Amino acid sequence: MILDGREVSEKIRENIKKEVEYYLQRGYRKPSLAVILVGDDPPSLVYVGNKRKACEKVGIKSLFYHLPYNTKLEELLELIAELNAREDVDGILVQLPLPPHIPMQEVILAISPRKDVDGFHPENMGRLLGRLEGGFIPCTPLGIDLLLKHYQIDLKGKDVVIVGAGFIVGRPLSALMLWRDATVSVCHIHTKDIKKYTTQADVLISATGVPHLIRGDMVKEGAIVIDVGITKVGNKILGDVCFEEVKEKASAITPVPGGVGPMTVTALLLNTLQAYKKNVN
Ligand code: GUN
Repeated sequence: MILDGREVSEKIRENIKKEVEYYLQRGYRKPSLAVILVGDDPPSLVYVGNKRKACEKVGIKSLFYHLPYNTKLEELLELIAELNAREDVDGILVQLPLPPHIPMQEVILAISPRKDVDGFHPENMGRLLGRLEGGFIPCTPLGIDLLLKHYQIDLKGKDVVIVGAGFIVGRPLSALMLWRDATVSVCHIHTKDIKKYTTQADVLISATGVPHLIRGDMVKEGAIVIDVGITKVGNKILGDVCFEEVKEKASAITPVPGGVGPMTVTALLLNTLQAYKKNVN
């Protein structure tokens, strides 16, 4: 079975659009998301474009702040403070990675947790670890959770193996999978024998950005395989998973593109709607 992130996204986005229309018909302002991009990293330009288009399609206003590469930390913090104070801005997203002269953690700390639709602020990450409802869950983990829920894949007691322990996906995803009562293992660059873990996984999720890291012989028969990787190699987009080999063994698998990618953007729309509803209600 193919886990079709495009199709599931479309359904969820239709509901978001209807919910936004409900508010607009009652005279409320539009929801709005401020997107900040520092520099011209080509993949980031594509991601930011996709996010903004998706916002407009469901009736969320997107404000775009495209700052030059040499922007100073202080200038970025000033913009964030301004956006934090604006009542007509519900969400603030600073696209990562930032140029190396800008410390990411200082930027994330500056965003109001109430507007942190990426869910990266320690208050929101802490809520995720503490299983406290009401915070923002980072978009890719939330998107994966929604995709699994759509296909009625219950994680309770399942062996979930996550390959990749990054800040944006692997670490928050491990907390979310624990919240769903899975038994979670996280492999990373220092793991001695990744295959020892991956071959045991009921649900295998790879988020490394290493194209075709996961081969057929690393996957258990009948496993569910989620591919978070999106790497441009030449003019091709490759996932972390060697799809042709792994599809023969997996009971369900996400394609790249059209799997996790659209779900991440959908989760961002949901988080923005959540921020908006708190502001207008
Ligand atoms: N770069 C890659 N993924 C993400 C994400 O989910 N949010 C932000 N802000 N930057 C990213």
